[in-house]
Amino acid sequence: MAKMWAGVTDGMTAKIADDFNSSIHFDSRMYRQDITGSMAHAAMLAAKGIISPEDADCLVAGLEAILGDIESGALPIDMECEDIHMFVEQVLTQRLGDVGKKLHTARSRNDQVALDIRMYLRQEIDDITDLVRKLLAVLVDKAEEYKSAIMPGYTHLQRAQPITFGHHLMAYAMMLLRDVDRLSDCRKRMNFSPIGCCALAGTTYDTDRYFEAEKLGFEGICLNSLDGVSDRDFCVELMSAISVLMMHLSRFSEEIILWSSWEFKFVELSDAYTTGSSIMPQKRNPDMAELVRGKTGRVYGDLMALLTTLKGLPLAYNKDMQEDKEAVFDACDTVKMCLEVFCGMIKTMSANTQNMKLAAQKGFINATDLADYLVKKGLPFRSAYKISGQLVALCIQTGTVLEDLPLDTYKTYSDLFDSDLFEAIDLSNCVEKRISVGGTSVASVESQIAYVKAIL
Ligand code: ARG
Repeated sequence: MAKMWAGVTDGMTAKIADDFNSSIHFDSRMYRQDITGSMAHAAMLAAKGIISPEDADCLVAGLEAILGDIESGALPIDMECEDIHMFVEQVLTQRLGDVGKKLHTARSRNDQVALDIRMYLRQEIDDITDLVRKLLAVLVDKAEEYKSAIMPGYTHLQRAQPITFGHHLMAYAMMLLRDVDRLSDCRKRMNFSPIGCCALAGTTYDTDRYFEAEKLGFEGICLNSLDGVSDRDFCVELMSAISVLMMHLSRFSEEIILWSSWEFKFVELSDAYTTGSSIMPQKRNPDMAELVRGKTGRVYGDLMALLTTLKGLPLAYNKDMQEDKEAVFDACDTVKMCLEVFCGMIKTMSANTQNMKLAAQKGFINATDLADYLVKKGLPFRSAYKISGQLVALCIQTGTVLEDLPLDTYKTYSDLFDSDLFEAIDLSNCVEKRISVGGTSVASVESQIAYVKAIL
């Protein structure tokens, strides 16, 4: 069939060119935004006297019927069409005759597609944000449950200082809060309407761009028509916000994978989120966490793909820009899937607090507290640090731990040591004494939890 844009050419493109050019298999998901945008456009055309009110009513009713028919399944989307914009206009014209042909007055597919993506992604941001908030709620509950479960905190993946599992979980909650913030920031800049920029230069009709923007829930309009049709910053921004979010999920996944190994045995994933091996009967594989980690690479790829597509494009619209959608849709679909799985995985994950405690007892993670003990008795920190280090070395040599060294041995290193040192290096006390804001004490973790809950 000849194209709607047939004119200077006969529009009889080669089949292979049609297939190559067509975007309907991925942009059909924007049918709702396309139709809603067109309804606002028809209303604006009538409000400004560019078309008659009767024509506008007819167009709006026709568009409404198309929307209903697509949603009920009565109108299957024709994959032979070039894109969703052409499909809707074609059906409208088939159904309404000449009136249908009036819809595309004072607009172009260039501003139309820019409008549709912004509206579509705006909704995606809201959906992704809801999922992050759900995950935050789950995380906060887990942190509450384990706010006094002692585990080793690590630096360089070496046991460093005692912390609680609740404190560790709340670190991820803070990251996710920033992700919510980043998403909302991105939404703010995205929420400007490009419709009315037309092909690139604006239009000679006396249109009202603010009318359409307001009807469609935008904060304002794009103030330069060339920019309005060729800006895809908002896709890049959204994909970078999603990439950071995925990076957080990926780091968390990595820890869950480590923690559920036999070497750690700090957590157990529920059967519902664990897979088996086809050959090794003992295996409980953390596939969900591994896939989230894996899919993070895929989302980074989406971001890089679009950045690279855009970097050399002259103003204004170029067909290269059609490549924006698959990348940004994939990033959105992927992060939503990951968040949903993650939520269930964390909700049903249990901690092996016994093993965490055992691990905490083995790595001299109270050595800093031993040094601090001496400092509080008047020794300069560097000297105290040295004595504490020498005592750790002695423990390693003799196969013991700081808690089990006799007081007499301590006294040969410094006469500041007294029997109260054992209280100072007791792991629970080490945690409880870290009352600085943001620290690992139960009270501090409780206030972190309260902070996040208040925001939620
Ligand atoms: N399918 C196109 C896209 O996604 C719509 C815009 C087409 N505009 C044009 N001048 N060919 O970018």
